[in-house]
Amino acid sequence: MIQNIIDKMNEALGYELRAINMYAHYTANIKGIHRIHLSELFNAEVSESLEHSNIVRTAIVKLGGVCVTERNSDNIVHTENYTVMLEQALETEMMASKVYSELLEMVEKLDDRELYDSLENIYFSELRSVEGMRMLLD
Ligand SMILES: [Fe+2]
Repeated sequence: MIQNIIDKMNEALGYELRAINMYAHYTANIKGIHRIHLSELFNAEVSESLEHSNIVRTAIVKLGGVCVTERNSDNIVHTENYTVMLEQALETEMMASKVYSELLEMVEKLDDRELYDSLENIYFSELRSVEGMRMLLD
């Protein structure tokens, strides 16, 4: 069971590492009037993903696992179109939410409230990002 949880956490970590790259890429590529707001938003997502990755990494080590160092291999779409960026962001956040909800179901069976709470906090922040991106695309 522990190994399955470690594997799922590594899946989440891979997605966080991918999110860091994707949002940093969009921070650099966002142009025009929308740069004012969106470069800040994307940059905040870089920081948040970095924080999440640190929490997940620490949790993997705590459970005796070895952390992945490679990002999830899903393609990062290059674009200068902010709508496409936001669509990619929404998809990324939905994927992260799904992985964390699966992870929470598994971690629930362990008797570790601290671990559960820290992962639940990440899950909620992913859900907020999903809603935030959805609103921006509305
Ligand atoms: Fe995240």
